[in-house]
Amino acid sequence: PTISRHDYQPYPYRLTQVTLDFDLDPGQTRVQAQLQFEQAATSLQPLVLNGQDLQLESLALNGRALTPEQYQLNDDTLVVHPDTGTFTLEITSLCQPDKNTSLMGLYVSGGKLFTQCEAEGFRRITWFPDRPDVMARYRVRIRANKQQYPLLLSNGNLLEQRDLADGRHEAIWEDPHPKPSYLFALVAGSFDCREQTIKTRSGRDALLQVYSDVGTYNKTEWALDCLTRSVKWDESRFNLELDLDRFMIVAAHDFNMGAMENKGLNVFNAAYVLADADTATDAAYRAIEAVIGHEYFHNWTGNRVTCRDWFQLSLKEGLTVFRDQEFSADMLAQGLDGAEAESARAVKRIDDVSTLRLAQFPEDAGPMAHPIRPESYQEIGNFYTATVYEKGAEVIRMQHTLLGEAGFQAGLAEYFRRHDGAAVTCDDFVSAMESVYAKQNPGKSFDIFRRWYSQAGTPRVQVSLSYAAEDQTCTVTLRQHNPPVGIEKLSTPPQAKPPLHIPFALGLLGQDGQALPITHEGKAADTIVLDLCHEEQSWTFTQIPEQPIPSLLRRFSAPVIVEFDRSNADLALLTRHDSDPFARWEAAQTLASHQLLALVQAFARNTAPEVDPHFIGTWRSLLNDTSLTAAYKARVLSLPSQRELLEKTTPMDPLGVVQASRYLRVELGKALVEPWLATYHANTDGDTPYQPDPASSGRRTLKNLALNYLMAAQHPQAEQLALAQYYDARNMTDRMGGLSALVHYSTSTECGRALDHFYEQWQQDALVIDKWFTLQAVAPTTSVEKIRALMVHPAFSMRNPNRARALIFQFCLNNLQGIHTPEGYAFWADQVLALDQTNPEIAARLARAFDNWARFGQPQRDALHQALEHIRQQPKLSPNVSEIISKALNI
Ligand code: ARG
Ligand code: ZN
Repeated sequence: PTISRHDYQPYPYRLTQVTLDFDLDPGQTRVQAQLQFEQAATSLQPLVLNGQDLQLESLALNGRALTPEQYQLNDDTLVVHPDTGTFTLEITSLCQPDKNTSLMGLYVSGGKLFTQCEAEGFRRITWFPDRPDVMARYRVRIRANKQQYPLLLSNGNLLEQRDLADGRHEAIWEDPHPKPSYLFALVAGSFDCREQTIKTRSGRDALLQVYSDVGTYNKTEWALDCLTRSVKWDESRFNLELDLDRFMIVAAHDFNMGAMENKGLNVFNAAYVLADADTATDAAYRAIEAVIGHEYFHNWTGNRVTCRDWFQLSLKEGLTVFRDQEFSADMLAQGLDGAEAESARAVKRIDDVSTLRLAQFPEDAGPMAHPIRPESYQEIGNFYTATVYEKGAEVIRMQHTLLGEAGFQAGLAEYFRRHDGAAVTCDDFVSAMESVYAKQNPGKSFDIFRRWYSQAGTPRVQVSLSYAAEDQTCTVTLRQHNPPVGIEKLSTPPQAKPPLHIPFALGLLGQDGQALPITHEGKAADTIVLDLCHEEQSWTFTQIPEQPIPSLLRRFSAPVIVEFDRSNADLALLTRHDSDPFARWEAAQTLASHQLLALVQAFARNTAPEVDPHFIGTWRSLLNDTSLTAAYKARVLSLPSQRELLEKTTPMDPLGVVQASRYLRVELGKALVEPWLATYHANTDGDTPYQPDPASSGRRTLKNLALNYLMAAQHPQAEQLALAQYYDARNMTDRMGGLSALVHYSTSTECGRALDHFYEQWQQDALVIDKWFTLQAVAPTTSVEKIRALMVHPAFSMRNPNRARALIFQFCLNNLQGIHTPEGYAFWADQVLALDQTNPEIAARLARAFDNWARFGQPQRDALHQALEHIRQQPKLSPNVSEIISKALNI
């Protein structure tokens, strides 16, 4: 069934108090719920509660047991007919955590019990109005065997803990903040705990705790440090203070997503908690910081103000992703200022934009295209998407650009003033922001801007520029297109889509690469922001002394595709001189894409591949540029990923992309051997102890990039360097860098030996073994047969989402030459179906791997179609997979 945004109806009752009694047992847990309701509608309505995989034991209304004739019970709802406006419902039900492989609701992981309730998991715990606009106070009593479950946690404050008979004990928790059911959490088991008491800004004490597997205490120092910095940063940058006496993070090894912001009791995928120098890479350290920040920031943007319904998901996710991106950028720029700080922040921006282009642009062009506020869905679990999260964050970032930092903060303060404690809509958020915008810009509104919330697809912005030497004026014309996407393409005539409000940041460079200041709205600046609100607009700038070279969409000021034909010579100039570090990176990447696409064509036509010597020259000058930081240099000198390149070929040509990427890497390696070697050695930090700080991790990234180019070029020393780096490494970044270079480029038996050595050494550490599976999944020599062999390895398990992602998802998404074969597609379909038996949410994610099937050339297109049909024809598909496959096949 399809649910539509416009069908929203308020719930006819308020829930004033929830009391839950848990009798925990992995085989059968008994939950007694006492719910106090109060009529909210003008007349008495039936009370409809959600439930899933529950066994109802008893039901009582105002203390009187109800007989089956007095209520309606079916698979997913329980309907009761109250006869008074205020009443108490008591429900006793049973669930089976150890049979719950979906990892939604109450489940077992590593012998411990965890819950995951967002979006609709609470209904697997008890019958309940499981929707975010029903908020209530919770009091929770948990009883369990004390030896097996020494720790019993839930949201809020611990009121009481005591021993019971028969080796059991109980704990009582009370959460003072009203919350929707999706923020409920319960955890039980045995954990190590690292904690610290901090003073919040107003001088209150708050206890911060990180719980992890017994024996992993030494791996939670970074997580607690990240949490502390998150609390401080939200105070200093956003003026938001922690509203709890106790804030807990708990690590789980089986988890469908990254983490969950349950009030006061965040549950995390262990991959985003555990880190030490030996087992976590620099990238893992940064990812932990980002996710801990993200979940913490939800405490205000998500929990204090929550979503009215799930169509509003981007209200909390887009905003919170924007906040975690800013947090990470500020952490990178800590202690720096001016251009150095900007360059440090740009590294984060580059990584975020790369993610957006890799995951969101294709989504916005495919069968699952949806606005950041979707209009309809069949399964909400399918809408935790790059569009809602990452494009949602871009839409917030544009508001930040339009309002400025001070204006944005004023708008957010207004948002909290209006809506603290409520469940609201995206529109409510925009209105608060608009109130500030209208004050800053009398007569203007966000009427056009609001369309970002209802319009899917990536806008295209065509740029043209004309220069009149006689009067030294330059005219810039921007023209936007919003082509139909996804199902819009099916309607005839195609739906015309109105223009959006696009803040477009622009700079001009002279022929010598120097910035030409632009006078706009009475001020002269190196970067100006144009407000594109119509289909086409022009701006004329005066006192431009020479024909300028434009630097377009600086800082990536809007999630659009820029169309502007320009010469490689101009791109090379921007690559060397653009003062905007993002645009500079962009110019280098565009040059590389041009070169790669020319190679794809050459291979397709069977003509001799050629690499432009100017391209090599540009790369050489970047490599030798001593003004760039190592982290930035590593970004600029990395080639676009194969998947990103694939999206740019028409029809999509996976094998051509693989060939071209490899060829260019080899050529760049060979042509620049000396600077790569020099770079490698210059960025090797002798004996200094490992720190995950931005400067030293930037050097490791660059060193590992150099190693890859040297390996690609088959430089006579490269394999020795890689082996030495691997075996002598004193941190996981170096170790993985060495091993990955071997796995990708070595043809000797040393590679297999190193992989075996790695397994031997780290087999006890699940997160490290995930990396071992991933390396092999993406190795160019890995075939389906090899993956099937790895799937019967004793360490493989399909039940553990991290493991399935490490091997199966990585192979399907990031091993183009392995997956784009007839066996590859059949393998993919088999795995979607296998996963669907146990974990529909994860299965549906894998099902999306070939959303873009219709854009492939033959024979891939027909073969993918067949694989999709094969999935569709299976009798018992979950609603999750069924929605994905039917949408993919409709296009
Ligand atoms: N709210 C969580 C986050 O973004 C994501 C949880 C989604 N869970 C799920 N099972 N779909 O931080
Ligand atoms: Zn989130």
